[in-house]
Amino acid sequence: MKQFPEGFYWGAATASYQVEGWNENTDWAQAAKAGKVPLAGRLADHYHRYEEDFDIAKELGHNAHRFSIEWARIEPEEGKWDFTEVEHYRHVIKALRKRNIEPFITLWHFTLPQWFADRGGFERADAPQLFARYCAFVVKQLGDECHFFSTINEPNVYGSNGWLRGSWPPFKRFAATDLVSITNSGRIYEAKSHKGVKPLFLYLRVMRHLANAHNAAYTACKTERPDIDMSVVKHVIYFHANWNPLNKVKAWVANYCWTHIFMRRVHNHLDSVGLNYYFHKKFGDHATYEKTDMDWDIYPQGIYPALRMLWKYKKPLFVSEAGLADAADQYRAAYITEQVRATHEAIASGIDVRGHMYWSLLDNYEWALGTTKRFGLVAVNYETLERTIRPSAWEYKKIIEQNGLEESE
Ligand code: BGC
Repeated sequence: MKQFPEGFYWGAATASYQVEGWNENTDWAQAAKAGKVPLAGRLADHYHRYEEDFDIAKELGHNAHRFSIEWARIEPEEGKWDFTEVEHYRHVIKALRKRNIEPFITLWHFTLPQWFADRGGFERADAPQLFARYCAFVVKQLGDECHFFSTINEPNVYGSNGWLRGSWPPFKRFAATDLVSITNSGRIYEAKSHKGVKPLFLYLRVMRHLANAHNAAYTACKTERPDIDMSVVKHVIYFHANWNPLNKVKAWVANYCWTHIFMRRVHNHLDSVGLNYYFHKKFGDHATYEKTDMDWDIYPQGIYPALRMLWKYKKPLFVSEAGLADAADQYRAAYITEQVRATHEAIASGIDVRGHMYWSLLDNYEWALGTTKRFGLVAVNYETLERTIRPSAWEYKKIIEQNGLEESE
């Protein structure tokens, strides 16, 4: 038996804009109205149906759930707080607690309030302070109900899609990015007006501001509530290489740029770290891999070296997202088993991993790709809003119930 530590957190994750529905006061909703990304609209209507969705999570054996708070709901105008929305999220937390599910809150998962985007978003030098003020407000309001908070979801994904590839707001594009592009983030809008080298400099600035924003938020939140656990959620791509020394250098540089530059800036302001793992890139590799519906290699074992990369910073780790788009549910169960096996291997090697959250509990809005990609343990029919548990979710439940894997699995 590959047994996990007692008290290990098992569950799934979602993000507000991707499942709640009608988050209209955001940069993404504006971009959708302008035809630059798909419209979101009602989506899974999780904003109104979270009790039903948490019943499902409970039925599936989950004891943890990661979700995000929509900044635009809490601070719809600069400096104005909406206490009705605070109460909404308090009810969400209570609904989880009632089911013995530990809440993990992400304070910001990609979408900006319109006012913040209008004044220049994270390009502006005062953005870290405004972000920290929002985070500290939420922690002050909800920190008595929830212990685990993350500041930022995937800074590098946010920065690179917004300022290098130009596929996400604010659609600035550094054309040379195409040469190193390795993922599908749905380039459906060409940001013609921002070609040239300027986006690269803006990207570097935004990345610096995001690190400063995390650090300022950490300090402000811990001042408010010293006992909470504050993390950042880091997307790690596992870059590796064949035998060729040149490829090994490429992999080292890629890991340094994608993962370590940001981590080195924030590692003194962290109680734990969330890992989001989806894919690898092996330089000099000629192998063919089965693919997810995102066209990403199926490579769940990469979660172990990804955890090892973050373990360099010696903070407790949580797998805050790992999963795949698989509408037919043909690979998901095996994928989960393999990613859990690799996580166990990481723990056996001495890495302190405390939880595992599959992405995602529900089918959701996959950003510039709209609702076409199905990551959910639970399928959502967008016409009827009917939820259907996919077979793989029951396989995950078996792992959770055993708190581990049978040796033969
Ligand atoms: C993000 C999610 C996204 C998922 C699948 C992560 O990068 O945090 O919002 O849906 O990956 O692409």
